[in-house]
Amino acid sequence: MPADTTLDVDALLDDPDSRVIVCCGSGGVGKTTTAAALALRAAERGRQTVVLTIDPARRLAQALGLRELGNQPRQVQVEGFEPKGELWAMMLDMRRTFDDMVRVHAGPERAEQLLQNPFYQTISTSFSGTQEYMAMEKLGQLAATDEWDLIIVDTPPSRSALDFLDAPTRLSTALDGRMIRLLTGPAKAGGWGLRKVVSAGFSMFAKAVSTIIGGQLLADASAFMQAFDSMFGGFRERARKTAELLRSSGTSFLVVAAPEPDALREASYFVERLAGESMPLAGLVANRTHPVLAPLSATEALTAAESVQNAPLAEAVLRLHADRVALAERENRLLARFTRAHPEVPLTRVPALAGDVHDLEGLRDIGVKLTS
Ligand SMILES: Nc1ncnc2c1ncn2[C@@H]1O[C@H](COP(=O)(O)OP(=O)(O)OP(=O)(O)O)[C@@H](O)[C@H]1O
Ligand SMILES: [Mg+2]
Repeated sequence: MPADTTLDVDALLDDPDSRVIVCCGSGGVGKTTTAAALALRAAERGRQTVVLTIDPARRLAQALGLRELGNQPRQVQVEGFEPKGELWAMMLDMRRTFDDMVRVHAGPERAEQLLQNPFYQTISTSFSGTQEYMAMEKLGQLAATDEWDLIIVDTPPSRSALDFLDAPTRLSTALDGRMIRLLTGPAKAGGWGLRKVVSAGFSMFAKAVSTIIGGQLLADASAFMQAFDSMFGGFRERARKTAELLRSSGTSFLVVAAPEPDALREASYFVERLAGESMPLAGLVANRTHPVLAPLSATEALTAAESVQNAPLAEAVLRLHADRVALAERENRLLARFTRAHPEVPLTRVPALAGDVHDLEGLRDIGVKLTS
């Protein structure tokens, strides 16, 4: 075993000052599973916990009592589950979160205009970064209610863990982009405001732009921005508040990674970015590791495999063990390399379980592994 600092997950879950835990990582590494397992454990240890999941597998959602996509947390109440605290869970409905935000901040008439606008419909569902942005919006809302003392946040699937940190900037650049500002900004600011352009009739500029992005889209975008204008300040203000929450001492980021070169390299970048953004990192979860099950070296196992006669099963088991030892050693080397590069980052290992994690028992098991 390399000498890494162990991440004390229970201390993190029990600390009353710990209010938000964000599980990040690249695609498919176990963010949703980790978030749900931490939430379950925190609730069983007595905290009022809510977990915000993103697109959980159907069976996992069912295990949490999330049968339909609700955009509000529900208390997990299933037989045999009697936590000391409480566990609430929700799945993020990105579109509904965006729509609700518009309704709350744009006023009824404007809201309807916006919601019907094709440009809005595109931005709200398919713009890359919207899901991350809405997850943060939802986190802000949950934190504002003060109903839970611990909020655990899962993050959207993305190619890179960094997408999560880049998303808000990307989205606000899209909404605040030069092009759109140019189109809709007040003429007196020196730009070719669309209002001005429109009132000035067909200028070369408007023609050029509508040729490039399409006349209807231009009209939609402009209508969108005019309606959006009024809530844009609020939009940015809340994004700023949430960013502040993410930087506060009550927040901890957990980076989830597979014990593989690409995933760990990715995790390294992410750790550096978090430090650069002054966001508090609690540690790395190396998920789906393959610890060895018996204290027998690969060489010993192979030697034994050579020497057994007329015992094909024993031989197969020994060879399997040798493979497993080789894999474990490789993982240990990779994790040791990560730790050498980031000695300050505590680490915990969660072995690969035999099957998928889709019920409370499985989550509880992951919770135990996270802490041992
Ligand atoms: N330690 C583990 N042992 C066995 N299976 C695991 C483990 N961790 C996660 N899984 C399984 O791996 C799959 C992917 O996990 P999960 O959905 O948590 O990943 P994710 O990072 O949230 O993925 P995405 O980026 O797509 O959201 C799930 O089927 C889950 O049950
Ligand atoms: Mg997920």
